[in-house]
Amino acid sequence: MTDVMVSTPGGDYPIHIEAGRLGRIGESLPSDATAVVVVTNPTINNLFGEQVRAALTQSGKPVTTVELPDGEQYKDWQTLNLIFDHMLGLQLDRRAVIVALGGGVVGDMAGFAAAVYMRGIRFIQVPTTLLAQVDSSVGGKTAVNHPLGKNMIGAFYQPIAVEIDTTVLNTLPDREISAGLAEVVKYGLIMDAAFFAWCQENASGLRSRDPDLLATAIRRSCEFKAQVVSADERESGLRAILNLGHTFAHAIEAGLGYGQWLHGEAVGCGLVLASALSERTLGLPGADVERVRSVVDAIGCPTRAPRLLGVEQWMSLMRSDKKAQAGEIKFVLMPEIGQATVGAADSNDVAAVLNEYAA
Ligand code: NAD
Ligand code: GLY
Repeated sequence: MTDVMVSTPGGDYPIHIEAGRLGRIGESLPSDATAVVVVTNPTINNLFGEQVRAALTQSGKPVTTVELPDGEQYKDWQTLNLIFDHMLGLQLDRRAVIVALGGGVVGDMAGFAAAVYMRGIRFIQVPTTLLAQVDSSVGGKTAVNHPLGKNMIGAFYQPIAVEIDTTVLNTLPDREISAGLAEVVKYGLIMDAAFFAWCQENASGLRSRDPDLLATAIRRSCEFKAQVVSADERESGLRAILNLGHTFAHAIEAGLGYGQWLHGEAVGCGLVLASALSERTLGLPGADVERVRSVVDAIGCPTRAPRLLGVEQWMSLMRSDKKAQAGEIKFVLMPEIGQATVGAADSNDVAAVLNEYAA
């Protein structure tokens, strides 16, 4: 088993990474918990619900389950209420603990519910997608979408533990593996050129789910994320670099309608566009842009963006990004592979990139 520690003002907690970890997640329940609520969706409940409930029931605490509908299009206020309806209906108190069993959608919603139920109760992340294991379950960003913007309503709220069972990825569709790998590649681009080179070298093994390569990718990604989040929990500076490619990605997701492209696919494509913009803005060598494009392609993510309704719609969608300030769009850019900075870009450069890369 590997443990990675996250240390933030909002709480310190371990990330346990282990094949077969689902059978041991009861070990992370606090002894004073009065009840456990597993928040999941029908797909994941069918696959892992029984095993998880068996592990949690060993604690002697009452365990109940809330199923949310499956899909990014349900990551909204209305669906969030299903969790509160369940918990208030059972008169659960402030020592109830939420277990978020699922991908980033379940994790973000269950975490937000934990942040606001009776002004905050404890929760445990049990991520079941690669994307959630390498990114969304760590760092305490919780949210739901609003029709006018993705993840616009939320809170920073840290879990008390993250429980990663690498074997749950066996049932994950190929497309979801590719989407998760986009976030893995991102860490190399923003923090560690050698790790990016490792991703490049092992792209096809990662995509075909070599268990040792995936375990390394998960552990290294959790270490990178823990390092950033421990330094800047609330994104007052450094943490923004984790959004490389995301200004473009969020525009793709909102512009096409949530759920058309997977979040990670949009991020993969966004990495290519952010590299091309970095070439124009900061002089990233063209050969490096091509390296990024070829790795994104090798992990199975799109390298060309959808046309949407032209450059104007792109700009308008990107202006609603949370990093925008007084209407000025901010991008994460790379002066070189392995380093990232946040700044504005000339709108002509952005338009040129969109004209070059929008299919
Ligand atoms: P997801 O949660 O929609 O899961 C993808 C699909 O895989 C779903 O249909 C799910 O039911 C299914 N699934 C999950 N685990 C499975 C398994 N082991 N086997 C088979 N099927 C399985 O998508 P995601 O990519 O995990 O998460 C995307 C979300 O995460 C987005 O809403 C994004 O905004 C959010 N996110 C949050 C953060 C953060 O820091 N909080 C970071 C990145 C992304
Ligand atoms: N996924 C971006 C962040 O956690 O900050």
